[in-house]
Amino acid sequence: MKNASKIADATGKLGVLLVGMGAVSTTTIAGVLAVRRGLAKPIGSLTQMGTVRLGKRTDGRSPLIKDFVSLAALDDIVFGGWDIFEDSSYEAARTAGVLAPDLLEQIRPELDAIRPWPAVFDRHYVKRLDGPNVKKGKNKRDLAEQLRADMQRFKQEHNLDRLVMVWCGSTEIYLTPTAAHATIAAFEKALEENDPAIPSSMVYAYAAIQEGIPYGNGASNFSANVPALLQLADQTQRRMPARTEKPPNLIKTGSPRPQAALGIKGGLNKSLKRKGKF
Ligand SMILES: NC(=O)c1ccc[n+]([C@@H]2O[C@H](COP(=O)([O-])OP(=O)(O)OC[C@H]3O[C@@H](n4cnc5c(N)ncnc54)[C@H](O)[C@@H]3O)[C@@H](O)[C@H]2O)c1
Repeated sequence: MKNASKIADATGKLGVLLVGMGAVSTTTIAGVLAVRRGLAKPIGSLTQMGTVRLGKRTDGRSPLIKDFVSLAALDDIVFGGWDIFEDSSYEAARTAGVLAPDLLEQIRPELDAIRPWPAVFDRHYVKRLDGPNVKKGKNKRDLAEQLRADMQRFKQEHNLDRLVMVWCGSTEIYLTPTAAHATIAAFEKALEENDPAIPSSMVYAYAAIQEGIPYGNGASNFSANVPALLQLADQTQRRMPARTEKPPNLIKTGSPRPQAALGIKGGLNKSLKRKGKF
């Protein structure tokens, strides 16, 4: 195979960094915790229950994907993340209203322990949102350095072997590529000059890639998919998932509802309707 790369086995602990701890993130966190505790089954989860067919249909060889590919076990996952609100994952999950309160109550201590770190946020990119849990810095490069410090501290505190980051924050405004996105040098100059062409999501992506952490985007906003960040990722020898890696799709196959994917009761649609998203 051309350009085949060696993928290391998924051993040790995996830190999952979630940017934005709202409905999608807290449903994912609560689902994993509930499955771990035996309170729910991961129905529909590609990684937990999906199979892969090997050989011909008639060979009857369809092992579980998790037995065929080296994947992190749910027990080895540690969640961390950022939000502009200080609510714990328990409080945010209750506000989101996706999962049944009785289920959340059973995992409340673990959810309460996962509290968001101060975010990199600028209302210019998400007009109808504001919150108190926001970092201050002399420019966007300084803010990226603060994010890197968060990641390093989290890795050390939990003795993590690997980290991944997924943007689950509110969708940012529409932007088009500019010269600031063309090269690493131009991008870093733009960070220092607080160029409006660099939205908050790109500051997170830059910080993650600098740390050698793969970055996935769960929203449709323009984020890591610019030449400068792709070049940087090449330099740090990491791969980036595709631009729209919708978070629920990371844990489900056919179901449009992540909570169904996790085998638990509730309705994400309810949460979205309440927020006037449709
Ligand atoms: N809900 C779904 O089914 C679904 C499916 C696919 C993709 N998405 C996308 O995923 C994203 C999250 O969806 P949701 O339903 O969880 O929304 P949500 O509004 O419940 O949560 C988003 C969270 O992101 C936080 N946030 C915004 N900007 C931030 C920043 N710069 N740094 C840190 N936190 C920030 C907000 O405070 C909020 O808590 C959205 O972009 C959405 O379009 C949602």
